[in-house]
This record gives sequence, structure tokens and C-alpha cells, in this order.
Amino acid sequence: MEKKIILSGIKPTGIPTLGNYIGALRNWRQMQEDDKYCYYMVADLHALTVRNDPKELREQTRSMAALLIACGIDPERSPLFIQSHVHQHAELSWLLGCTTYMGELNRMTQFKDKSQKHSDNINAGLYTYPVLMAADILIYGAHMVPVGDDQKQHVELARNIAIRFNNAFGETFVVPEPVMPKFGARIMGLQDPEHKMSKTDTNPNGYISMLDEPAVIMKKFKKAVTDCEPTIAYAEGRHGCNNLLTIYCACTGKTMAEAVAEFEGAGYGKLKVAVAEAVIAEIEPIQATFKRYMDDEAELDRIVKKGAQQAGERAQLTLDKAYRAVGLR
Ligand code: TRP
Repeated sequence: MEKKIILSGIKPTGIPTLGNYIGALRNWRQMQEDDKYCYYMVADLHALTVRNDPKELREQTRSMAALLIACGIDPERSPLFIQSHVHQHAELSWLLGCTTYMGELNRMTQFKDKSQKHSDNINAGLYTYPVLMAADILIYGAHMVPVGDDQKQHVELARNIAIRFNNAFGETFVVPEPVMPKFGARIMGLQDPEHKMSKTDTNPNGYISMLDEPAVIMKKFKKAVTDCEPTIAYAEGRHGCNNLLTIYCACTGKTMAEAVAEFEGAGYGKLKVAVAEAVIAEIEPIQATFKRYMDDEAELDRIVKKGAQQAGERAQLTLDKAYRAVGLR
């Protein structure tokens, strides 16, 4: 049986939120099944597109690797590595850049957003970011790329680059597909439920960090913004209520119909406490494992080193093939 190849990555910038977890990381764990082979990486090269503090980047790369294991990535089964440890990504990125049009990159909504936010540092890396991401994906022959909503456009670009390259130079790359979670791809902010939950929210009550203490989680949910409707229901326009119910379902495995039935006749107070408890139950074991790996740096280093070696072998095969295809001697 041909196994499906999965690849995904996350930047080591800050602690992921509950939204990142439900929208992406949880899926990473669930995709580690017998008919799939998964590569997971900490995208440290991508983190350089905004101004960074070297010491902080080094620390955050380590804690992100620990957190991925804590979220259920099994490094015995799925190579877990740091992007910069596999030098082939940056090399393939050059070839792909020569197959990508500026018009395509101009259309990337993340580039537009980020160049607005960082208007004093619109660097070429920010612009070619999606090309490196395409290299990350295509170099493993990934069929599926589990991502949150905001990265879908980048995976679609990777598809287009693969198709164009194959047409020009012969079958070289697998054409990948984005995989979005069935629901929960967009967990909204707790204070502003019309916008996605974000760790850069200036109000920390707007998001749940994966490392928030249980008491803090409870407090943030109790303060969550809802509406004045008398009943709890999943309905058009009821952003705050819908978001709480979605988080509840994601953390308990219940269906929306079951959740809505459970809270029939109840008020927001009850719903908020129930959601907070479900989130705490999901996050507490993750935090315990995270701490264990943060306390054992040697073990973590061993894991990512082995991951990079496994990934590098596969990456080199694709790079060789692509170099030959374009006519490099
Ligand atoms: N750009 C992604 C993000 O910001 C991280 C990432 C880098 C990625 N390379 C990738 C995701 C390859 C999926 C596949 O979250």
C-alpha cells in the first residue's frame, strides 16, 4: 500500500493559541495513522521574515518542538525537525522562485496584511515566503498539507507551482492538497468573536494560550463576549455563542446537535464554565508533557536531530530530481 505523505509546519513565534491547536495541531496528531507518513517541522526560517531577536528565536524554536511532541506528535513515527536543519528546503526554494510569478505573490493576502502591519520592514523574504513554503511541501512529495484557514492560499500556490513545474520540466512533484479540519478551522477571539483568535491580540483575554494556567483559562472564558439572546443556539450571526459551542465540541468530541441539546434552557454562565472545563481537560496533559521535554534538552535535541536526518534523506532525493529536470549538470 502506498502511504499518503503529509507535511506541515508552524512558525516558532510565540506560544500557539487554542485556535492554532484546534485549527491545525490537533489534526497533525490525528493524521498519524497507518496509511500515512507524516513530516512535521518548526519553520524557523519563516520566522525571520519579521524582525527577530536571536536569543528569543532560539528559545522559541525549542519550546515549539517540545510543544509539538506534547500535542501528540510521535517522533518515533513521524519525523519531527527544525526547518533550517534540512538545508535542501532553501535550495529548492530558489528553483521554485524561478517558476513563480510576481503577480501570484502579489495576490497573497498574508503578504498584504503583513506588509501593512510591518510597513517599516517589507523585506523580500516576506514576499517570497510562500515560495519557501512550497519548497517545504514539494520536497517531501506531500499529498496532503493540514493547515489552518489562513494558510490555505499558500498551499494552493504550492499546487500551482508544482503543476507548472511538471508541465515545463516533466513529472517531478506531487501536487499537494490543503486539508482543513471538518470544523474549528476558524476559532474566533473571545473578546471579538468576529475576528480569528490571535496571539498578537493586544487584549490577552481575547485568546487562550496553550500554556495558560487552568485558573486563567476559566477566567478568560467567564469574560468571553456573547450576546443578549435568551437561548443558546448555533445560529447565523451569533458569533460569540457559535464560537463557544465550536470549542466545546472540538474538545469533547460531541456533535453540535448534542452540544446544543445539552445546553437547552441553560444560560451563558453554565456554557462558559463547561467550555472552560473541557478546554482545561484537553490542555492540562499537554502542559505536563511540555514541561517534561523542556526539562530534558538533550532528549529534545536527539529527537530533532534524528528527524532532520530522516527528512534530509528524503529531501535530497527530490532536490536531485528537480536539479536534473531543469538542466543543472
Ligand atoms: N506558513 C505557515 C504558518 O505561518 C508555516 C509553514 C511553513 C507551513 N512551511 C509550511 C505550513 C509548510 C504548512 C506547510 O503557519
